[in-house]
Amino acid sequence: MIKNKELNPTPRILMGPGPSDVHPRVLRAMAAPLLGHLDPEYLSIMDELMVMIRRVFGTKNELTFALPAPASAGMEAGLVNLIEPGDDVIICVNGFFGNRMSDIVERCGGNLIRVDAPWGSPIEPEQVHKALGTCKAKLVAIVHAETSTGVLQPLDEISQIVHEAGALFLVDAVTSLGGVDVRVDERGIDAIYSCSQKCISAPPGLAPVSFSSKAVDVIERRKSKVNSWFFGFKFIKKILGRRTDVSPYSTCFILLCIV
Ligand SMILES: Cc1ncc(COP(=O)(O)O)c(C=O)c1O
Repeated sequence: MIKNKELNPTPRILMGPGPSDVHPRVLRAMAAPLLGHLDPEYLSIMDELMVMIRRVFGTKNELTFALPAPASAGMEAGLVNLIEPGDDVIICVNGFFGNRMSDIVERCGGNLIRVDAPWGSPIEPEQVHKALGTCKAKLVAIVHAETSTGVLQPLDEISQIVHEAGALFLVDAVTSLGGVDVRVDERGIDAIYSCSQKCISAPPGLAPVSFSSKAVDVIERRKSKVNSWFFGFKFIKKILGRRTDVSPYSTCFILLCIV
């Protein structure tokens, strides 16, 4: 005999793979007439949304906004801005997306030091500690929620170890943001990126990002140009500084209005 429970299983909401369902109010907003990206009303909406993104990330970081692109662009923006050729960079790899970060580090000319754990297991703090002892790492990067395996990575101890070594801590929160607390400031995360299409339940196409003032200093003191024009920090600063002679981020503003 089939038990009642089997006929009515507890509903599961699966948001990790994305795109997750979008609220009808958001779908309606997508049909609204367009507002120009130089419109003052637009800019005040952007300000409001930056405040909201800070709240979700749990940060006061000034440089917190949404790139008009998928989350991989957030990954790329974080890494290309923070890494210069010859920098030692530790990437924690316990699934698909750690591999993607490793690939970007090599494209930036960084010295890649991988810390591997079997897929399905978290990275152990001791592994990171050991790797930090073998190099002068500028940055350690890790995935908070590895979508490919479902592993939620504990961050607190690793963040402490990274900061004791004087390195920057970069976190991929693509699958975690909105689903679990990321607490950027409390955990001392220096750079973080996410997406709109998973636990935020918005349409795909935005990558919320945030950089600590320490990360901003590191970027400002770079000796070499960022190896990307679109994701280059100087360009991003111009956008946030309201320069109206640069417009490719208009998509960002449009999508921000919807979210
Ligand atoms: C952990 C993680 N990082 C990065 C990405 C890349 O995101 P996107 O497909 O939005 O570029 C994904 C996508 O599923 C992901 O799950």
